[in-house]
Amino acid sequence: MGQLDTKHLIGLLLGAEEDWPRAFEELLARVGPIRTTDGAAHDVSVQRLTIEPFDLRQDVRPDLVIDRLAYWYYHPREWLKKAALVNGTYLLNSPFTFQSMEKHSAYCAMLRLGLKVPQTVLVPYKHPVDNSRWAYTAAKYNRAFDLDTIAEKLGYPLFMKPFDGGGWRGVSRVRNRDELHRAYDDSGEMLMHLQESIEGYDVFARSLTVGAETMVMNFRPELPMHDRYAVSHDFLTAETGAEVLAISRLINAFFRWEFNSCEVLVRGTEVYPIDYANACPDIAITSLHYYFPWAISALLKWSLFCTVTGRRPRLDLETAKYFEIADSDRTYAEKLTAYAALSETYFQTERYTEFCASVLPDMDDIVREWVRSPEFDALLVDTVRATYPQAEHERFLAHFRGLLGLWKTDNAI
Ligand SMILES: Nc1ncnc2c1ncn2[C@@H]1O[C@H](COP(=O)(O)OP(=O)(O)O)[C@@H](O)[C@H]1O
Ligand SMILES: [Mg+2]
Repeated sequence: MGQLDTKHLIGLLLGAEEDWPRAFEELLARVGPIRTTDGAAHDVSVQRLTIEPFDLRQDVRPDLVIDRLAYWYYHPREWLKKAALVNGTYLLNSPFTFQSMEKHSAYCAMLRLGLKVPQTVLVPYKHPVDNSRWAYTAAKYNRAFDLDTIAEKLGYPLFMKPFDGGGWRGVSRVRNRDELHRAYDDSGEMLMHLQESIEGYDVFARSLTVGAETMVMNFRPELPMHDRYAVSHDFLTAETGAEVLAISRLINAFFRWEFNSCEVLVRGTEVYPIDYANACPDIAITSLHYYFPWAISALLKWSLFCTVTGRRPRLDLETAKYFEIADSDRTYAEKLTAYAALSETYFQTERYTEFCASVLPDMDDIVREWVRSPEFDALLVDTVRATYPQAEHERFLAHFRGLLGLWKTDNAI
């Protein structure tokens, strides 16, 4: 006693979300001050950040920032870059790789690493870019190409989607020539991939990674938002489950993405990654329901681990280490195992597990109590009221209370 607490600040950079920030704040308050095994006391607080002019030399108060805004609002994105480079602030996520490595680059990197990325072709813009030099460049260098030949090689049906993806914008499933030309005409100034469709897949697995933890969930994209995540635990064989996990962790470690979701399609025993650069993964209580308590506690534990242990951000990608494995004559399974070791090192999985066990031993109890509390129910009620039309409030409340009730039963002591 008598020792001064070390103070840490977690900053939340938010857009329009209220549910998870409130949950995060409430759970942190319940956790209270933290004492590490060496006896040191840590006082961690959270603050919602505001948007304002900043001096490039100005100090940054948060040790760690969870960013949910910078992918569409660029002033704070540039603030994050300054914070990373000048102040060494820890970021979930680093905007550098997310800005430069969109879906297309992620496909390329994962191809190189030996993953089963579906056949994919990038075609030039349908509409000329708005640049006075274009007419000259096009006349001299733009080679005519036959869209039908490309499509026939990939086979119908196929997917046409923007190279940088996100939120199903501009995605179409193309079944024939007419649809192909319509989709391409409509693409306008978007740069498009044509991609082989993984038809008749058995499972769409969506994995949400928060630092060293990953949850693989059974996702049903054809259903409305509130029903997309099925509560199911053994929907993959042990072997495929391990492969999906290894792929998600590999992608996240490779790009240094610490809060990200990955989508893979599983057909038979084959796992095809299709979408895995989601800088701002969906963690709404009205989407994740049953998995929401896990997501918030993982986000809090990882933030506490990073701030309290002083984990340093790593902007360097060390791609050579991964490519060395990729270029070796190991089999696919051996490569995944070798990548897994790199992922564990990057995420300090062992140290994180040890930290949770020794410094946050009551976390599961705190989460259990919180999910059972009136505050948690009030959060759900407020979110449902803000999300759905009034006539639907009762129905959706019953739906989510049912799913969270299941969580309470499954997580009872
Ligand atoms: N190659 C593919 N095979 C089968 N389905 C696909 C394929 N690519 C995309 N889809 C379907 O289209 C949806 C949106 O594509 P996706 O690449 O995830 O775009 P976004 O980045 O906009 O989420 C996917 O969730 C999936 O249902
Ligand atoms: Mg997607």
